[in-house]
Amino acid sequence: MRISLQVNGRAVETEVSAVSRLSGLLRNVLGLTGVKEGCCEGECGACTVLLDGQPVNSCLMLAFQAAGCEVTTVEGLGGSSGLQNAFLQLGAVQCGYCTPGMLVAAEGLLRANPRPTETEIRHALAGNICRCTGFESVVQGVAAEAAARQGTL
Ligand code: FES
Ligand code: FES
Repeated sequence: MRISLQVNGRAVETEVSAVSRLSGLLRNVLGLTGVKEGCCEGECGACTVLLDGQPVNSCLMLAFQAAGCEVTTVEGLGGSSGLQNAFLQLGAVQCGYCTPGMLVAAEGLLRANPRPTETEIRHALAGNICRCTGFESVVQGVAAEAAARQGTL
């Protein structure tokens, strides 16, 4: 079937099969390989994208379900979110496999809740698994970026 959607601010029209995952469309057809596929079962969060501003696991969505929606991947965040720098400065990146999903989930949180508490940050990232960092630096990175956006850092 043919679908139209917005991806990172760009209009996309493409053919998808009825069983294509959104993560597969983004990675394999559109070349947005920042979208990682870890478990493909909704457990790890590596495939997180924003769908109309809400974080979702793109491995759990069929591509056609995104028709008419605005999808933002880590590539669409650009360098301007500041989250990337905060993660780098605080050592929130090691192997990096989880990082795109973490960044997108964090961006979704900060758009919805610009002043999250530590508990809210941990809750927002609860679906994103990292086997390297121990999470503390990730939480600190999100908190630092929230403070920077509020002009309080
Ligand atoms: Fe989607 Fe793990 S690849 S949640
Ligand atoms: Fe390696 Fe998170 S940095 S899984």
